[in-house]
Amino acid sequence: MNKISVRNVGRIFTDAEGRQVEALRGVNLEIADEVDPLGKDIGEFRVLLGPSGCGKSTILRMIAGLDFPTTGEVYVNGKRVEGPGPDRGMVFQKYTSFAWLTVAENIEYGLKLKGVGERERAETVAHLVQATGLAGFENAYPHTLSGGMQQRVAIARSIAVRPSVLLMDEPFGALDAQTRSGMQDLLMKIWTETAATILFVTHDVGEAVYLADRMYVVSSRPGSIVDEIAVPFARPRTEALKGEARFQELENRALESLRHAAGHGGQVRVTL
Ligand SMILES: Nc1ncnc2c1ncn2[C@@H]1O[C@H](COP(=O)(O)OP(=O)(O)OP(=O)(O)O)[C@@H](O)[C@H]1O
Ligand SMILES: [Mg+2]
Repeated sequence: MNKISVRNVGRIFTDAEGRQVEALRGVNLEIADEVDPLGKDIGEFRVLLGPSGCGKSTILRMIAGLDFPTTGEVYVNGKRVEGPGPDRGMVFQKYTSFAWLTVAENIEYGLKLKGVGERERAETVAHLVQATGLAGFENAYPHTLSGGMQQRVAIARSIAVRPSVLLMDEPFGALDAQTRSGMQDLLMKIWTETAATILFVTHDVGEAVYLADRMYVVSSRPGSIVDEIAVPFARPRTEALKGEARFQELENRALESLRHAAGHGGQVRVTL
């Protein structure tokens, strides 16, 4: 059974002036549920890469159940998506923790909704606070924290419920370069513990190559998946990889594909 199936999906929006905007056309994406030789679920790390406005967020939102296709179908774990659910977590570019809850309460929130008992909730919160480097800030409110810390709260909150699919829409886009690279390493570390399948959106080719098992290149509007690039580098990956020739070669290959994809829809040519 596939974790995610996007089958021939199209999405037409009506803009503020009443004009129709064809955001997506014929999008197909199949992410299989792979298991290791012992039958244990191995999470995939997939990245959507594409020019601005090509429909990346729309694809993610449809998998999350926050938006719906005009044509075609979206399935998660074999079930047609009809709305949001605890099997899918989502992290956005803007910090999306609850402002009226503390760090610990934010992380605990989804567990409470699921009816998880107090003791197990406390254990999960303690573990995630440690894993995300938020120890000492359990009782702080998100707005008192830096952008990077707020995003760590959002990540901890979304993985606390152990979703089988984690959708991340440019989660590090607003962070400075150094914080961003620390967050990439943190995310990979947490991900190896969770076996979640991650679908991650970014504009940043270097980030895509560093994180992904496989990258999907989306063309400009109407968006569709026009290229798929496997990333063969072993894990755990470290910063040193970014300096290697094979990394830069793959980065160039992805950049070339992205340039081609940006011209593909014929709307705008993006200079990268
Ligand atoms: N609710 C909406 N109403 C009208 N048009 C929309 C709506 N949501 C998205 N669009 C349009 O659909 C297209 C795809 O938008 P989307 O946000 O998915 O792109 P994106 O690839 O995530 O862009 P970016 O890289 O800038 O985040 C854009 O042209 C956008 O203006
Ligand atoms: Mg977007």
